[in-house]
Amino acid sequence: MPEADDNMITFTLDGEEITVPEGTTLLEAARMIGKEIPVICYHDATTANGLCRVCVVDVNGGRLLQPACIAECQHDSIVETRNERVERNRRTILEMLNSAVDLSQGEAIQEMMMDYGVDESRFPDAKRREHDIHDDNPFYVRDYNQCVLCWRCVQVCAEDAQYTFALTLGERGYDTHVATAFDIGMMDSPCVFCGQCIGVCPTGALKPKTEWGLEQGMSPDEIRQMTRIPRRRKENTE
Ligand code: SF4
Ligand code: SF4
Ligand code: FES
Repeated sequence: MPEADDNMITFTLDGEEITVPEGTTLLEAARMIGKEIPVICYHDATTANGLCRVCVVDVNGGRLLQPACIAECQHDSIVETRNERVERNRRTILEMLNSAVDLSQGEAIQEMMMDYGVDESRFPDAKRREHDIHDDNPFYVRDYNQCVLCWRCVQVCAEDAQYTFALTLGERGYDTHVATAFDIGMMDSPCVFCGQCIGVCPTGALKPKTEWGLEQGMSPDEIRQMTRIPRRRKENTE
């Protein structure tokens, strides 16, 4: 543990007094002492955006819980990463998400749902989003029926890693989804098919075509056909 000085913050995390450098987030501090806080929108490779709120923790018993991935540690505060209030909030967030999106292929999210005792029938009248599956290139499929709008793919395609800016926000309100500019097909977008967006997606929304084909029960020949790179794109990428 680093020594306390003017640039260090000392506070209590789950009953343990710890000292961390100023600017450390509560998530980082928790990880330093081996505490796990669930995350969905947060990823080590992307800038924390505080969108999903599943990482909320209790700071000084305050009325509003704080998102651990963006809230910084404060001097003399008392933080609880998991108590009854925190659990109730996380459970509700997961239940709301589950009522709007197909989460069945998000392994870590499924584990979270088990851990927090999610009631999958909590919002029986909620209507799940319905999007067509985007199967417009030989590399990967986009199924926004499974998208939690965590923004990781957009960020990793932009300044956080790839600097390609192939992805953006499509439509507004309930129909908001990740899209290419003007919803053009991936082959016509600036996408270079690096696969980084697939790597950070916490659900099955982005999936390599081979994996998707196997799930659909396609034969090896059908998968080979489907993943064949068209001549024009081949020339462009050579
Ligand atoms: S595969 Fe395409 S959309 Fe995905 S991160 Fe790479 S360039 Fe961006
Ligand atoms: S497609 Fe995946 S990574 Fe992108 S916003 Fe949706 S859930 Fe997040
Ligand atoms: S993980 Fe912190 S708000 Fe999503």
